[in-house]
Amino acid sequence: MSSNDSDKYPTESGRRRFVKGVVGAASLSTVGVTTGIGTSSLTSSTGEGGGVTQFKAIENTGGPAPRGMPQIPLEIADDGTIRGVWPESQTVEEAGKQITVAEMDIAGVTYSTEWFQYCGVQTYEGVRPDADQPNEFKSAPESPYEWQSSELSAGDNLTVDHFSDYQDWGNDIGQSGLGKPAMATWRSEDTDNTIPIQLLRSTRIEEMAQNDPWLEATTSQGFIAWLDKCTHFCCVPGFKAFPGSEKFAAEDQVYCQCHQSSYDPFSIIDKTFTALPRPAGDSGGSSDSGSDSGGGH
Ligand code: FES
Repeated sequence: MSSNDSDKYPTESGRRRFVKGVVGAASLSTVGVTTGIGTSSLTSSTGEGGGVTQFKAIENTGGPAPRGMPQIPLEIADDGTIRGVWPESQTVEEAGKQITVAEMDIAGVTYSTEWFQYCGVQTYEGVRPDADQPNEFKSAPESPYEWQSSELSAGDNLTVDHFSDYQDWGNDIGQSGLGKPAMATWRSEDTDNTIPIQLLRSTRIEEMAQNDPWLEATTSQGFIAWLDKCTHFCCVPGFKAFPGSEKFAAEDQVYCQCHQSSYDPFSIIDKTFTALPRPAGDSGGSSDSGSDSGGGH
């Protein structure tokens, strides 16, 4: 599956609800420009953002993927619409330059838009800290899940009602009853680059959230979401999405069929990586050299 596409989505009237942001002391003036991983190749850059970033990830458990995929904190509106949390952007001065950042404190963790700056996503309009994009998770143009293809059209908002059978749901892949997934997009309205995310509702997430302040604050009603870009070469993996995943013991995990990486959505871990900077003056649609390299080159 391509990591990029140019599908357009219908205009929605719903706009994001800002969550009060807290600007922390991230090392925004120091950025990595080479691989997007590791912490040893730091240098200066004219781009905004980047730098060593701590984030919460669904754990990589097999294959060549170098790290987990970043979790997206979510919230559920009164009407049952599910949406990702995006920190309010602020302009701060770093090293004598005015830069725009968006980060906030959630349960003692600094959640930042820099979590999503790999695989070229740092050039996507939707991850610009001040991008005016709706935060609702919208049904993806293509889905490997029969339930989603038959019930939803591209661009439809995903709601709690779509997942009412999550305790029993299953397909022909792996064990039933582990959770109900959907393929979705986020903050990608009328942009050239679509941000792929995966949404999963599971009783396991409900249980995990009872003993974990971070998960209690960033999941809701058993829903969890993550940026669905494989950290190897940026393919789009899926939970119970691909027949053949059982050959790699990944039938009950998030599996990437490009090179057989797997991720465990029921293991949320702390990770560090060097976020790539956005190109200076970038309007969101261009891409810089090496920006799609992910972390596996
Ligand atoms: S395992 Fe290579 S792109 Fe996912």
